[in-house]
Amino acid sequence: MPEKIFVGVAWPYTNGELHLGHLAGCYVAADAFARYHRLKGDKVLMVSGSDQHGTPITLRAEEEGITPQQVVDKYHGHQMDAWQRLGIGFDLFTTTGTDNHRQVVQEIFLDLKGKGLIYTETTPLPYCQTDRRFLPDRYVQGTCPFCGNPAARGDQCDKCGKPMNPAELRDLRCRLCNQTPEIRDSEHFFLRLSALQDRLLEWVRPQHHWRPNVLNFTQRYLEDGLHDRAITRDLDWGIPVPLPGYEDKRIYVWFEAVIGYLSAAKEWAQLRGQPDAWKEFWQDPAAKAYYFLGKDNIPFHTIIWPGMLMGYGGNLNLPYDVPANEFMNLGGGKFSKSEHRAVWVPDYLERYEPDPLRYYIVANMPETGDTEFTWQEYVRRNNDELVATFGNLVHRVLTFLQRNFEGKVPVPGELDSAAEALLSRVDATLEEVGRNLYLCHFREALRSAMSLAQESNRYLDAQAPWRRFREDPAAAGTSVWVTLSAMAGLKTMMLPFIPFSAQKLHHLLGFPGKVEDAGWTIQRPVPGRQLPEPNPLFRKLDDSVAEEETQRMTGLG
Ligand code: MF3
Ligand code: ZN
Repeated sequence: MPEKIFVGVAWPYTNGELHLGHLAGCYVAADAFARYHRLKGDKVLMVSGSDQHGTPITLRAEEEGITPQQVVDKYHGHQMDAWQRLGIGFDLFTTTGTDNHRQVVQEIFLDLKGKGLIYTETTPLPYCQTDRRFLPDRYVQGTCPFCGNPAARGDQCDKCGKPMNPAELRDLRCRLCNQTPEIRDSEHFFLRLSALQDRLLEWVRPQHHWRPNVLNFTQRYLEDGLHDRAITRDLDWGIPVPLPGYEDKRIYVWFEAVIGYLSAAKEWAQLRGQPDAWKEFWQDPAAKAYYFLGKDNIPFHTIIWPGMLMGYGGNLNLPYDVPANEFMNLGGGKFSKSEHRAVWVPDYLERYEPDPLRYYIVANMPETGDTEFTWQEYVRRNNDELVATFGNLVHRVLTFLQRNFEGKVPVPGELDSAAEALLSRVDATLEEVGRNLYLCHFREALRSAMSLAQESNRYLDAQAPWRRFREDPAAAGTSVWVTLSAMAGLKTMMLPFIPFSAQKLHHLLGFPGKVEDAGWTIQRPVPGRQLPEPNPLFRKLDDSVAEEETQRMTGLG
């Protein structure tokens, strides 16, 4: 029975270019997961979009001296382009700027208000007299009341990850002028999270399949006690409050962005002319919803969004799993926009292929703790693993075939025990990779697949068909056919990680169409079939690349 899998991926703020941290945080994992399920024949809906509202956008607009709309228009296009070139295959990547999204958000807002889960209250908020405005979220900095981080923002602390109300911060400062703001009263809408605490705890406690970091963080957070949170802001950029008298306020960006998962599914259904199609993924209790995001987004997806869904009702599925990643840091220092320490996606793609980066990210995925990116390690993995192990296996078999078998898949004779052993290893590996992908154990999945590539090289070295060819061409042909079978397994199990190269290998092995057409199975190479002239799957990088790129990255070059 095919499963129904909803894949929600964090909505990136549309205020700048994407960088390696984004990709390693969630996009590569989500895409690998979705590709695996599609291959396996499951129904998958993978959505996200650009997060266009809130202070990240308005601050950027102020910095660049343009309007928030201009900021959003500029970077939304860049993001779409990046997904396409990186092979991140969303079913829909939309924006929070659509009418559809606004309607769904306002409907949920009014519904929760009707149920008493949203209420108004006058609340003390930082107001800057110099700038003559309230200072929502990122406009104000202070000391985190939970962990003492002196640079916490008004909505969330980057260090301990806890969301908070700005009035809870100590030693407030205005981000625009650095003065100490005064505290003024303002009327806002609040989400009654305190009323959902018990239900949330009851729901969270038995989620033993969640990653330990996600489960522990969430449970601790809930056990500390949930505070109601303001879900409107004194801003003019964002989704209007659908009630008269609040024209100068907007709905808080986090409250509405998470609703994007639902509104995007509805938009997707509309776009394919089946307006009810979203229900399959949202209302069928057998459908599973996975949310991919970086660790700073955990509480919004394991507490606030599920809380909103519980309150709203409508039989909407709660998250099944939230396999959040930790961070991939840049080796030798933290990622920093202002110091130009970053690997920017458009920059990277100008010089290199997408697959080696996807491969690196999976191999070093921060599944259980932070990991590092260094250009040295990137070059090493590319050269030793992709080129020397995987690419070389493919290339030497295919060129040998061209030279000695006129480029045709040989007809296998009887299989000896070494051949049988490799073929059953292929089957077992496909299973193992599948099992690990199913559980979102991406590194482990890739490790199994690559160990099959190594094993296939060992088999080939031991068989040495190039030596055997003269005295026993049939035996040489058989071992080549067996190796081609292993390669056919590899093109399927590597597809979630390196889709462009896997598709190329599919073609080089003489299979028509797409890898996906065959599914999560081992296709046997067809004896007698003419194979195309091979060209290498991967490109070896000069060692100087590591140094050049490191210099470029640190701005020293
Ligand atoms: N824009 C947020 C960020 O970049 C993520 C929003 S995820 C969603 O951290 F839940 F709002 F969708
Ligand atoms: Zn903190």
